[in-house]
Amino acid sequence: MEQAGESKAIEAHLTEDRVFPPDSAFTAQANINDPAVYERAAADPQAFWAEWAGQLDWMTPWNTVCEWNPPHAKWFLGGQLNVSANCLDRHVRTARRNKAAIIFEGEPGDTRVLTYYDLWREVNQFAGVLKNLGVNKGDRVTIYLPMIPEAAVAMLACTRIGAVHSVVFGVFSSDSLRERINDSQSRVLITADGGWRRGSVVPLKAAADTALDGGACPTIEHVIVYSRTSDPGTVSMQEGRDQWWHRLMENAPARTEPEPMDAEDPLYILYTSGSTGKPKGILHTTGGYLTQVHATVKSVFDMKDEDVYWCTADVGWVTGHSYVVYGPLAAGATVLMYEGAPDWPQRDRFWELIEKYGVTIFYTAPTAIRAFMKWGTEHPAGHDLSSLRLLGSVGEPINPEAWMWYQEHIGGGRCPIVDTWWQTETGAILITPLPGLTATKPGSATRPFPGIAADVVDENGNSVPLGGGGFLVLKEPWPSMLRTLWGDDERYRNVYWSKFDGKFYFAGDGAKRDDEGYFWLLGRVDDVMLVAGHNISTMEVESALVDHPSCAEAAVIGRTHEIKGQAIAAFVTVKEGMGANSDLARELKEHVSRKLGAICRPDDILFTAELPKTRSGKIMRRLLRDIAEGRALGDTTTLADPNIVSSLKDKYENQE
Ligand code: WT7
Repeated sequence: MEQAGESKAIEAHLTEDRVFPPDSAFTAQANINDPAVYERAAADPQAFWAEWAGQLDWMTPWNTVCEWNPPHAKWFLGGQLNVSANCLDRHVRTARRNKAAIIFEGEPGDTRVLTYYDLWREVNQFAGVLKNLGVNKGDRVTIYLPMIPEAAVAMLACTRIGAVHSVVFGVFSSDSLRERINDSQSRVLITADGGWRRGSVVPLKAAADTALDGGACPTIEHVIVYSRTSDPGTVSMQEGRDQWWHRLMENAPARTEPEPMDAEDPLYILYTSGSTGKPKGILHTTGGYLTQVHATVKSVFDMKDEDVYWCTADVGWVTGHSYVVYGPLAAGATVLMYEGAPDWPQRDRFWELIEKYGVTIFYTAPTAIRAFMKWGTEHPAGHDLSSLRLLGSVGEPINPEAWMWYQEHIGGGRCPIVDTWWQTETGAILITPLPGLTATKPGSATRPFPGIAADVVDENGNSVPLGGGGFLVLKEPWPSMLRTLWGDDERYRNVYWSKFDGKFYFAGDGAKRDDEGYFWLLGRVDDVMLVAGHNISTMEVESALVDHPSCAEAAVIGRTHEIKGQAIAAFVTVKEGMGANSDLARELKEHVSRKLGAICRPDDILFTAELPKTRSGKIMRRLLRDIAEGRALGDTTTLADPNIVSSLKDKYENQE
């Protein structure tokens, strides 16, 4: 039991003893294979990062590596560079000129390949289009496009002239779009008539029109519309405001010189929804960001010129910014970009694409992996996936069962898995294996990247000894960290720096370290349950549930309980063909109890066909708590499918 004055930490129950040492053949060819890299970086992190920065093209060299006035960091001061020049110009001067930069596959099956030279030409022209419309250095541009090469063209064109982009994911509603345009005060909106998703058109232009209706976005002067899904003649265009992308490109100059940008000039704003209130505009800057996304692409994904790399994230998420566009292109990689859904027209679309393009590196999210598990192994088994050499995971803790499945059924038992922990705020990967060096353990993101000072602390900010759990913090600045929240520095200080009195960056995640110092992420601390005086992570109970052969996915929450404080309630989806009945519910409770201890035994198990998730695939536990406690449902606007919660609520209220 908790003693008065004793500081609170998060208890951790899950144990995992499977270890996968790096393969010696992989290590031999790996970009990073000298274990001394960790000590070297720890001894002098600034020198370590400066070495990576030195691999970029600078127009003016920096004079100060890092200036740290907590909570504000500046990196590579005095230095000037241009992001598009680093992603394009420096490659077109080499043998990469006609190498594929982007291989695009549309959902309907249309394909395009843009070489570095093609992409460079498009970006030069589109940068000229923006300039002709009066966009200046520092102006904001909102991008609301489907997952098509033009999204990358638009982003890179902004960076070329020093405009600050704000990408809004194509499935966000017109309300969300309006809010983000107004917060960033964008002068231009770049959109498309529509995009393809599960065989239907996502009507982006119509949503954009609703957002702008009646002068609701007074800063917008121009709307550029890319024609993707329909005959341009059928799209309503507002005279004087809306113009077609292809028309503007016809009159664009062939060349637009890259603008020299200070290392600390803003690069982009990306809005991420806080649990409540208005979205936070995460601000990233130029030199440090590009340095770290490039360094991690080379080190974590072991990127080589021969690779065909596929990150399945949409460009609307930070993963799409850092690991579809900027990191891989800075490294001169070939990037596969796919527009649509993984189960369209069939549940093997991803595996078909890997086979078709000979993908070597594949980076996706645990929520997708659990869906693949649920759909069955026959889908990947029907394709030749032998080109794959490295797998990655991001977005949530990956439960050990999903990790094992990924390794066996996608990686054929031969590919290292990099479970990469990071956030929109961190800009780049911070905790991760290095595939040529790190022995991996299913479910652990392993160790901080070289040069990253991560720790696990208790409520008072004291480091928790190995074996214990607590709050994940970062004790030193890193190059790709957010600089502030757009227009709200006070909120920046409050959200990330106030919990530990400005001493550490508070990530908001719980974590434990095992005896070897490996990090195990335990989910958001808001999700931690307090059951009879014990801090239990929802993620651990979910992981134990999914470890049962019939369980496909689980979401666990704490609901108010008179005696225990909180009781554990689990919402469970079962694998295809498994019976969801009271026998299974009893068995699952026993299973959790055996794996984690009786304290973690769920009081309720409710079977459901689907779990409520955000559009980025994260389970919305807050809504499940509302259901379990019989409250009116809170904000459901960020849900991918709002119908799921209302039917769950009915089901929960009518059980027994
Ligand atoms: C939150 C950040 C990072 C880009 C995509 C999500 C969770 C992310 C992992 C991981 C455990 C993870 C954390 C984090 N998360 N990756 N490998 N293991 N948890 O970006 O939307 O800003 O979310 O995602 O809770 O704080 P985001």
